[in-house]
Amino acid sequence: MQIKHIIAANPADMARKAANMIAAQVLMKPKCVLGLATGSTPIGVYAELIRRCREGDISFRDVTSVNLDEYCNIPAFSKNSYRCYMEENLFTGIDIAPPSTFLPDGMAADFDEECRRYTELIDRMGGIDLQLLGIGMNGHIGFNEPADVFTMDTYRVALSKSTREANAVHFEDGMEGMPTHALTMGMRPIMQARRIVLVAGANKKDILEEALCGPVTPRVPASILQLHPRLSVVYSET
Ligand code: PGA
Repeated sequence: MQIKHIIAANPADMARKAANMIAAQVLMKPKCVLGLATGSTPIGVYAELIRRCREGDISFRDVTSVNLDEYCNIPAFSKNSYRCYMEENLFTGIDIAPPSTFLPDGMAADFDEECRRYTELIDRMGGIDLQLLGIGMNGHIGFNEPADVFTMDTYRVALSKSTREANAVHFEDGMEGMPTHALTMGMRPIMQARRIVLVAGANKKDILEEALCGPVTPRVPASILQLHPRLSVVYSET
């Protein structure tokens, strides 16, 4: 296993260390493709990147971004959409060109067609240079939920009960407003990413151990990362 573990003292330290890796990627290859994630954990990472961009240390002018997932049937302008999350937490704070930022369209009339489009889009970009990941309490990455098989390319997924409960806190009307489905990148573009940075807080200790030290199985989707040649795990101890 070639996993590089980086232990951070606290969430701010974790954010700084993960931002260092993303900044290094952008400095090494200004025209890179960044795979981005949502959730609570990456927020500090994005705040760090915004700060560095404002201070003139890095520029995202030539970067293309492609997000892991989007809820189905939540309009992009709704504050609960991942598009809105990305605008608020990253895109409006950095100099990335808006047309170079991509998420699946959760309002597409034809989800199968949208999944095909997203898969082809990532292929046309030449794949992802650096993929940022969080990990769900059930071991999901993106919205690849525990299942009998790993799904390779973008697909429409039924969200698990535990994911819906965990994410419902972000919805004003709780479980009531929480979507039942999402569109997610499958494992192929994630595993083909040339570098992966996974961020996790102390609340993910148990699932992280299971994913990184247990058997590789689609029941623990993040366990597939054991097979990635350049995985860095930035874990906050507190
Ligand atoms: P969290 O989500 O950062 O909000 O815990 C992680 C995930 O579900 O991927």
